[in-house]
Amino acid sequence: MKTLVAYVSQTGNTKKVAEAVYEAIPGEKEIMELAEVVSLDGYDLAFIGFPINAFSPNPAAKEFLEKNSSGKKIAIFMTHGAHEDSEDVGLWLDKAREAAAGAEIVSTFNCQGEVAQPIIDFLLKSDEPRMQEFGKLGPTTKGQPDESRLERARAWALEVMSKL
Ligand SMILES: Cc1cc2nc3c(=O)[nH]c(=O)nc-3n(C[C@H](O)[C@H](O)[C@H](O)COP(=O)(O)O)c2cc1C
Repeated sequence: MKTLVAYVSQTGNTKKVAEAVYEAIPGEKEIMELAEVVSLDGYDLAFIGFPINAFSPNPAAKEFLEKNSSGKKIAIFMTHGAHEDSEDVGLWLDKAREAAAGAEIVSTFNCQGEVAQPIIDFLLKSDEPRMQEFGKLGPTTKGQPDESRLERARAWALEVMSKL
């Protein structure tokens, strides 16, 4: 059983979750940035993680899933500034599932990640009310993903592995 953990992370949040997932999983395993992954061939399972950017999965991750996930067993994790309860999260997960339509998606996980200050500043200046609202939410995300969220990620990864 060989497992890959691959991630896109611009400000470090998804990387923290990726490292928690990696720590938790047993057996032969590798962790790397998604940009370094040439193919998912040779892995029995790939955990693939990315942030939400502009109300959609990070474009590089989306493209990777579209081009490389067909016929593969994957588990998707994502981080976002919105709270996990936000109804937007389901829409973003649907977009990720759509990008990985040819894959066998064994499970998904998502959690809040701190929105970087330059992004908050940019959003607050936006003319679009939706962007401004999101900017106002920014300061409440400070310190995320915290230890409790990382612990949830570890428990999720273990559960995924135990069900295979
Ligand atoms: C350009 C940009 C756009 C973003 N758009 C959204 C968004 O639409 N919804 C959301 O919940 N978070 C959004 N965020 C916040 C990130 O998804 C969140 O901070 C995430 O945890 C970042 O992960 P990373 O540190 O691994 O890059 C955005 C962040 C950036 C940089």
